[in-house]
Amino acid sequence: MYQLNAEEFNTELFLREYWQKKPLVIRQGFKNFQDPISADEIAGLACEEEVESRLVYKNGEQWQAEFGPFQSYEHLGDKNWSLVVQALDNWSEDAAKMIEPFRFLPHWRLDDLMVSFATPGGGVGPHIDWYDVFICQGSGKRNWRVGDKGQHREYAAHPALLHVDAFDAIIDVELMPGDILYIPPGFPHDGITLETSLSFSVGFRTHSAVSLLSGFADHLIDNEQGGQLITDPERQSTQHCGAISSDDFAKIKQQLTSLTSDDEMLRDFIGAFYTQAKHELDLQADDELSAHHDIKLAMAEHNLMRLGGARAFYFPETVINGVCYIDGKKVTFSPAIADIVKLMCDQVEITPAQLTPWMASDELITFLAEQLAAGYWYFS
Ligand code: SIN
Ligand code: CO
Repeated sequence: MYQLNAEEFNTELFLREYWQKKPLVIRQGFKNFQDPISADEIAGLACEEEVESRLVYKNGEQWQAEFGPFQSYEHLGDKNWSLVVQALDNWSEDAAKMIEPFRFLPHWRLDDLMVSFATPGGGVGPHIDWYDVFICQGSGKRNWRVGDKGQHREYAAHPALLHVDAFDAIIDVELMPGDILYIPPGFPHDGITLETSLSFSVGFRTHSAVSLLSGFADHLIDNEQGGQLITDPERQSTQHCGAISSDDFAKIKQQLTSLTSDDEMLRDFIGAFYTQAKHELDLQADDELSAHHDIKLAMAEHNLMRLGGARAFYFPETVINGVCYIDGKKVTFSPAIADIVKLMCDQVEITPAQLTPWMASDELITFLAEQLAAGYWYFS
């Protein structure tokens, strides 16, 4: 289990002074840090079709990026390259545990856990991200420079690499195992490896209004909603048929805002939208645990685990009525099990002690049977 070092990191202070405001180096944010996964395992994952990975290196002065799956790394030598694997939390239960210390932030803000393996001189180049990231240094050493927010020219150093012009550093540090660098959106940064290194990045994102609106339009189409037309039986004659009058503009605006002001409709969209997995899930449906008797036995003996990368959220206003959202879908259940469903959304792991009070609930067993069959939860 990973735990933030309370002597070096105070959540309230961090949120007040740094979150979304300025970068921060947290020396020994993790005391006695151990890599949750080895470089060899990471290299192996990047050979898999379903895993999103990329190699970044320089050919002379020319930056190069290649996308996985990869067959071999031998041609790369032992310097100046890095291998990045996205959504490591979907593929490694041990690595996913690195997200847990950051649960003081809501899960809907989480992007993924990314890992980069880099040889000396390796890095992805100077760039700006539009998400918040906690870069946790694993084994090895890496130098990080972070510049101030401001006007920075970005350019494509390669079609897949958006870089930023040279910047003055406000932070210039060597990160050692267990150190953490927090960078908010918009601050240019560049990490160059000094000693073969693993860096684990816990990223937090939001969506732009345009991507929300585009998702909302898809949601309305899929659910055959929002098809109402404007009606105007009270219309008066106009002197200016080329004009969209203020009254008509208000009517059209109302047609749109009535959709976004319908909280029930909007919650269904937001719940589905934010629980959609960005990366492929390692779904393994458990067909064997369908008998209620077997599920009860498992509840008494094993931890119930949510699949790495799977997203399950609720709104306080909906869960009491038996509605939550799992992997892009609205899911209904008996309101009698709302408390344990909330726990399943709040916690990745639920212990037998937390489950056994629910053993007599047929509603929960039915709900669990569905989720186990779909592969979103499993017993450890
Ligand atoms: C890396 O770990 O190589 C890149 C992480 C980042 O800059 O966001
Ligand atoms: Co970055």
